[in-house]
Amino acid sequence: MQAINASIGFDRKMWRQDIRGSLAHAAMLHHVGILTAAEEAAIRDGLAAIGHEIEEGSFPFSEALEDIHMNVEARLTERIGEPGKRLHTGRSRNDQVALDVRLWVRDAIDGLDGQIADCMAALVDRAEEHAASVMPGFTHLQPAQPTTFGHHLLAYVEMLGRDRSRLADCRARMNESPLGAAALCGTGFPIDRHMTATALGFDAPMRNSLDAVASRDYAIEFLSACAICATHLSRLAEEMVLWTNPYFGFVKLSDAFTTGSSIMPQKRNPDAAELVRAKTGRINGSLVGLLTVMKGLPMTYGKDMQEDKEGLFDAAESLALGLAATAGMVRDMKPDVARLREASRAGFSTATDLADWLVRELRLPFRDAHHITGRLVAEAERQGCDLPELSLATMQAAHPGITMDVFSVLSVEASVASRTSFGGTAPVNVRRAAAWWRERLA
Ligand code: ARG
Repeated sequence: MQAINASIGFDRKMWRQDIRGSLAHAAMLHHVGILTAAEEAAIRDGLAAIGHEIEEGSFPFSEALEDIHMNVEARLTERIGEPGKRLHTGRSRNDQVALDVRLWVRDAIDGLDGQIADCMAALVDRAEEHAASVMPGFTHLQPAQPTTFGHHLLAYVEMLGRDRSRLADCRARMNESPLGAAALCGTGFPIDRHMTATALGFDAPMRNSLDAVASRDYAIEFLSACAICATHLSRLAEEMVLWTNPYFGFVKLSDAFTTGSSIMPQKRNPDAAELVRAKTGRINGSLVGLLTVMKGLPMTYGKDMQEDKEGLFDAAESLALGLAATAGMVRDMKPDVARLREASRAGFSTATDLADWLVRELRLPFRDAHHITGRLVAEAERQGCDLPELSLATMQAAHPGITMDVFSVLSVEASVASRTSFGGTAPVNVRRAAAWWRERLA
């Protein structure tokens, strides 16, 4: 029974939240006349001492006492006697654990928010530096149009910006206190739930006591925001893996974020990127795990809900690691600008610019321009050259109206510089967007 029942092995992580909750509860019990001033003071001192014991590693954690709540309370009574036994008045472990997990998730959101912002700042710095570094833009992982390394990195900044706002939404929605719901139906003691809610930084007490002890949707929402953020990190990580592959050769990572091989002396493996990519798996696992634990649970609290914690803790820690590693890799990476530019010319990447020129200068309908350009691409393929290397005569054979001016739009630099539409890839846009983000991140 103890082996399956005890949660102290993992829920001890919530000791700060448990003590914070008990301090607020005790202060409120005194305020409404249930505890004397002396009892409340004894509880306060006792909990502070327990905090120190846990911090310095001398706290006698006991598996027989099941969880963090019973461990702290038993130790409190051991230290201060009678007042310790009065602390649990008007409270149950059901609202206590609901409170602790909520406080823990809220703290985790605040920590992750700062980390995402740091990762974004790293990306913005590199984006600004490479606002004009031309690289291939892909669709279907096939050469599509030239873009810039800066524009590419800022795409991730946008995603991470939404991840922050998802976490902020989750935080705003979950910021109500379950404390005082007691076991499930509230209590006959004259407790003041508004007072504890305010003391603990909540906007209000939860309105329904059954909901307060039975719900973990905020934890699911948090995990889902974590999973989405991890998905973004894993896409960048996958690109790092591709980019550092010598066949791409777009980017180099230093020894700080790569490892060697025990047998192949030449190896430089992007382990950090691979692990960022892989952490997504366990975070998704935690999300699906908790959704599955909660589905079909009858009102209200069931011990099933004790299974919420390990996945939550693991997901938050995995995401924190992934964010730190990503920020580190982004700051560390050395893009090979010449190689990126060279690669951006491959695959007739300025074909769209040619078609656009035909539309703009000869007023051809876009579909006709697309067709003519397709013929010229086929011709260049046949001759084994790039579009700008075709002769004017060849161009004019496809359409007699073509002039020398067409060559001015066929370089990759001209291509990116021309894309000045809002949100487009032009270096002037990228610099403006980087500045916009820098201001918001400051
Ligand atoms: N360790 C429990 C959990 O994590 C605390 C609540 C226990 N409540 C109870 N009635 N046994 O959910």
